[in-house]
Amino acid sequence: LLDNDARLAKPFEAMTRSKPPPGTPDRRRPHGGAAVGVALLGCGTVGSGVLRLLAENAAYFAERVGVPIEVRHVVVRDVNKERTADCDRRWLTSDIERVFADEAVELVVEVMGGIDAAGAAIERALGSGRSVVTANKALLAERGPRLLELARESGADLAFEAAVGGGIPIIRTLRDAFASDEVGEIVGILNGTSNFVLTRMKESGASFASALAEAQRLGYAEADPTLDVGGHDAAQKLAVLAMLAFGVRATEKEMLVEGITELGPRHFAFAERFGYVIKHLVIGRVRAGKCELRAHPALVPRSSVFANVTGSLNAIKLEGRALGPCFLSGRGAGDMPTAVSVVSDILDGARSIVAGIPGLITRGRPMKPCSHLPRGDTTTSYLISLDVADKPGVLAAITAALAEHAVSIAQIVQTRGEPDAAEVVLLTHEAREGDVMAAREALSRASFMRAPPFLLRIEDV
Ligand code: NAP
Ligand code: HSE
Repeated sequence: LLDNDARLAKPFEAMTRSKPPPGTPDRRRPHGGAAVGVALLGCGTVGSGVLRLLAENAAYFAERVGVPIEVRHVVVRDVNKERTADCDRRWLTSDIERVFADEAVELVVEVMGGIDAAGAAIERALGSGRSVVTANKALLAERGPRLLELARESGADLAFEAAVGGGIPIIRTLRDAFASDEVGEIVGILNGTSNFVLTRMKESGASFASALAEAQRLGYAEADPTLDVGGHDAAQKLAVLAMLAFGVRATEKEMLVEGITELGPRHFAFAERFGYVIKHLVIGRVRAGKCELRAHPALVPRSSVFANVTGSLNAIKLEGRALGPCFLSGRGAGDMPTAVSVVSDILDGARSIVAGIPGLITRGRPMKPCSHLPRGDTTTSYLISLDVADKPGVLAAITAALAEHAVSIAQIVQTRGEPDAAEVVLLTHEAREGDVMAAREALSRASFMRAPPFLLRIEDV
């Protein structure tokens, strides 16, 4: 056995410790007992959680990795700002050059957010052979394939568990557990802020503004919360999942993206009346070589497992071609759930460094060309609400407009509003998005309409 191990060890070592590209320091050495040096870029909500976990579990982490994790620098914008007790002021700097000048830094943790400065720092870290952990979905959605390629070339790790689903181990699940299967469909609730706001509006009648302010106070929202409530953060996460699950590149341009800003009490009342709950969903699937990617509010049946995913919780259902459905749920935003994912990536990266084999985390499904399904060709059923004048012929005109665009009605309810006004709410059978949009456009021009038509997609998930 020992002989076999020795024989096997040689080619394995040769394979994993191949020469790094010219100009890149050889970081593939066995570690020899020294601590793994870490630099943290950013010390806000997530960064503070990371420092807390590293401090609270230092001894256990050292045991798991084989050597201690040593924080050497924490880069921030304002070194004078108050920080939590876990942040040693000697680490603080606003000068990122200190990180790159320090040869003992082997792992760079980017939790500052944004695109340009974060992207430049990550490229520089990977280019110098250092492994990187990031929580930055905006950056990964924009430059993910290129950064993964850079990591592969330099033989370093690029890990990003926290970028999707906060504390839920969805990236590991896709990368490792689904390595032997093919994912056909992803459905999820991926924005904790939107889910929190929708839950508060439904359950306690809170206004959109006060629910969003509370989500910001709790550390769920992005620095620019329009990314959350506009659906962009969920779309970025879907782009990251599509890259890993389907090997497909996608930007928002190829997706249907809508947020929750238009929703108010009457929409929760419709949902209730027809047995649904409003959720902000992402849906991704590949069928017949076409990729469909959407992020928008939707009505889900009250009995759906997604209907009971409340507050800042996220949930993701993967449909494996061999496995069938697999469901994960957990806290999708906030300091500690996100820090759990970041620190797990730090531990994985540090273990690879200590073993002298960084670069393993980065390997994933190869990218392949795939065309995107045009938005107009997606199909689902819809709830359409129409605020109309209450006079003869209005219902006939509505049904005629829908029929003209091949949209079939499943249910229709009319209620009396103000004098001479009515609200007509109808549910359609499955229809093409393009046809429903054309019918909506035609209806919005009708003289009996008192407000633009309102529409919600219905997803039987
Ligand atoms: P945050 O609270 O706004 O913290 C950002 C930190 O980065 C601050 O410490 C800030 O310094 C520093 N920073 C920003 N730009 C910088 C620059 N150009 N140079 C140096 N330092 C800079 O943000 P966060 O909520 O922790 O989010 C960080 C990242 O994690 C983002 O990519 C976000 O999308 C992602 N994420 C967040 C969550 C969450 O629940 N919050 C969950 C998953 C992923 P100052 O402190 O001096 O201002
Ligand atoms: N702002 C994000 C959310 C943080 O609300 O889901 C987690 O990525």
